Amino acid sequence: MSIQKRLVGSYVAVICITVLILEIFLIVYVRYYYLHNVERSLMNQAELSASFYEQYFADADLEEQAERLLKGFAHNSDAQVQIINASGRLLQDSIGLPQGDLTMTNYLDVRTALQGHAGAWRGKDPSTQESILAVSFPLRSHDVIVGEVRFVTSLTDTITTVKHIAVVLISVGLLVIAIVTILGLLLSWTITRSIKDLKQAADRMTEGDFSIRVHKRYEDELGSLADTLNMMASRITKSEQLKNDFISSVSHELRTPLTSIKGWMITLKTSGSDNKQLLHEGLDIIESEGDRLNHLLEELLDFSKLDNGRIVIQPAPVHLAQLLHHVGKQLSPRAARQAVSLEVQTADNLPVLHADENRLKQVLINLIDNSLKYTESSGRILLQAHAAPEQDQVVITVEDTGIGIAEEDLQYVLQKFYKADQHATGSGLGLSIANQIIKLHHGELRIMSEAGKGTTVQIHLPVKNLTIS
Ligand SMILES: Nc1ncnc2c1ncn2[C@@H]1O[C@H](COP(=O)(O)OP(=O)(O)O)[C@@H](O)[C@H]1O
Ligand SMILES: [Mg+2]
Repeated sequence: MSIQKRLVGSYVAVICITVLILEIFLIVYVRYYYLHNVERSLMNQAELSASFYEQYFADADLEEQAERLLKGFAHNSDAQVQIINASGRLLQDSIGLPQGDLTMTNYLDVRTALQGHAGAWRGKDPSTQESILAVSFPLRSHDVIVGEVRFVTSLTDTITTVKHIAVVLISVGLLVIAIVTILGLLLSWTITRSIKDLKQAADRMTEGDFSIRVHKRYEDELGSLADTLNMMASRITKSEQLKNDFISSVSHELRTPLTSIKGWMITLKTSGSDNKQLLHEGLDIIESEGDRLNHLLEELLDFSKLDNGRIVIQPAPVHLAQLLHHVGKQLSPRAARQAVSLEVQTADNLPVLHADENRLKQVLINLIDNSLKYTESSGRILLQAHAAPEQDQVVITVEDTGIGIAEEDLQYVLQKFYKADQHATGSGLGLSIANQIIKLHHGELRIMSEAGKGTTVQIHLPVKNLTIS
């Protein structure tokens, strides 16, 4: 069953039950009120007649005075008036005495009045089958019941009035139910409309169309669901874009060294055997291009392992100063080739870290590689480490005087595959890998940079977690 049907169904059910209960109560009450009023007015007349009799006729014989009495009683009333003696026989009737049996004791009100109480009875007139109401009141003479006066009226008019009122009440009830149903339909439509939009969009997304956006109709839960769905779609689109960029950049990165290797192979095949110097030069280049390919593949492998959480750091005591100098020495030939000065400064008070030395080295090489890549000749690179005991940290800094990173790129450079310059060599994975490795060490990687001035990358490593030995 659809949500709309359920919503409208429950509204209507609640209203129907409420209206039904209210209607039953009102109709019963109205009927009671009208009938009771008629009865009370008859009873008043009967009581008045009885007290009149008691006052003025108590000493007279009832049977003799019955006709006079009847005239007096009937004079002030539209109802049929009867006078009955103490044994329950009808003496006088304002519409004329019927033929045959005049005994009235089979009527409840008559019997009640003969016992000394006011009696009332509602039922059908035996001859006309009309609904009637009869009220009897005892007539007393010096505290002895000598007979009774009986007022009878037709209830047809009253019942018709009650029926009319009931029809009006039921119509109003039906109107209320109709209005509520329409309102319910409208209200549930506003809800189901949003749900339908969401479902449609989700269906399209399932089919792979992530360009679709859900139109947000209201600022409610469904509205925020629409926002979430839209956000999800744009994230997926973006990661799709990143994947494509990545594939094209990796293919590009693979092609450049491969083209160079292939070119040199052909050159060497034709003239390598004659020219020793050319052979050496070619083999060198092939070797370094091979290294470049290897490096790229390693980066990719690392990245996928980090992404799957399959890289575990293996902590061991690390002498930071030694590590830094070692890395500096390893990269100084390349720095010298580029005419960039590479300087290593280490404070004396460096604690011995408990960390994964190889991973840390990988991070440092990555950072210095970036600095070398983006620093022009006669630039300066400073690799430095100092302890910050007040924060229980060691801070390793790689600072360069290179081209820097523009402000709008700075927030993205830690993301995988992000390169400020799409055409620069590299996969865009280096900083992302470095960042994750530092995170695995419970540390933090911070990048500060200004375009044209240079870049500073800081690695903050906690000492407490890494235990000083
Ligand atoms: N020292 C730096 N100077 C200038 N730009 C840098 C530096 N380090 C990183 N970047 C920018 O950050 C991007 C991402 O770096 P990285 O993740 O190491 O990828 P890759 O080195 O493969 O390009 C680089 O493409 C570059 O635009
Ligand atoms: Mg890099």
